[in-house]
Amino acid sequence: MHRLAGKRAVVTGGAQGIGRGIATGFAREGADVAVIDVQPDEAGKQFIAYAEAAGRRGFYVRADVASEAEVMAAMTAAARALGGVDILVNNAGVVAECPVAEMPVAEWDRIIAVNLRGPFLCTRAVLPTMIAQGQGRIINMASQLGQLGGETMAHYSASKAGVIGFTKAHGSRGLAPQHRCQRDRSRPHPDRDAGQRVTGMGAAQAQPVADPPLRPGG
Ligand SMILES: NC(=O)c1ccc[n+]([C@@H]2O[C@H](COP(=O)([O-])OP(=O)(O)OC[C@H]3O[C@@H](n4cnc5c(N)ncnc54)[C@H](O)[C@@H]3O)[C@@H](O)[C@H]2O)c1
Repeated sequence: MHRLAGKRAVVTGGAQGIGRGIATGFAREGADVAVIDVQPDEAGKQFIAYAEAAGRRGFYVRADVASEAEVMAAMTAAARALGGVDILVNNAGVVAECPVAEMPVAEWDRIIAVNLRGPFLCTRAVLPTMIAQGQGRIINMASQLGQLGGETMAHYSASKAGVIGFTKAHGSRGLAPQHRCQRDRSRPHPDRDAGQRVTGMGAAQAQPVADPPLRPGG
């Protein structure tokens, strides 16, 4: 039984790591999936081959989630290719360590731009499609460090705290009343209270997994 049969998903940062696990997992579960990532097109070719071998449509758009223009173009291309977007996973993220006293402003800005501005831009870009459809699911990847703070990771921690606040703001109080959005509280998860897997417009059930081999069923 394919749990995502007929669904159309966009996964940012899906070329490697957790994002690749989500994108390939979604394809295995029957979704057509578009990956948006900064990595060279070769990574996209691998994903497309994986999705097609699984009997799904796969797309790859090379774009920087921190760039308004690139996000608008990428999301438009993804929605057109998929024929709509039912699920957006804001997964793309960057991590680095640097004590605040030594942190260049550019380094602060880089982490905040990808980790916080990125989910905002991608969410804003996909909302018109989801609202027009009358349904959609948005999953934002936060981190325990967004609540606990990491000693040498103030920029990363602040970005993930921002993701948690952004998710609560637009998921629970913003869109929820108008667009029947709910936050998923049905499944126990150790990261839930730290904000990871907090959902915006409803509740998709993405479980981060380790990099699978790029083979359907693998
Ligand atoms: N790995 C962990 O233990 C962990 C824990 C908590 C939260 N997270 C979060 O989960 C997400 C994925 O983490 P991961 O460990 O798989 O990271 P990763 O570095 O393995 O993968 C990140 C992906 O995002 C892409 N990416 C980076 N900058 C981008 C940009 N500007 N535009 C588009 N794509 C971009 C990368 O190319 C890569 O494919 C991140 O948001 C991370 O903060 C990870």
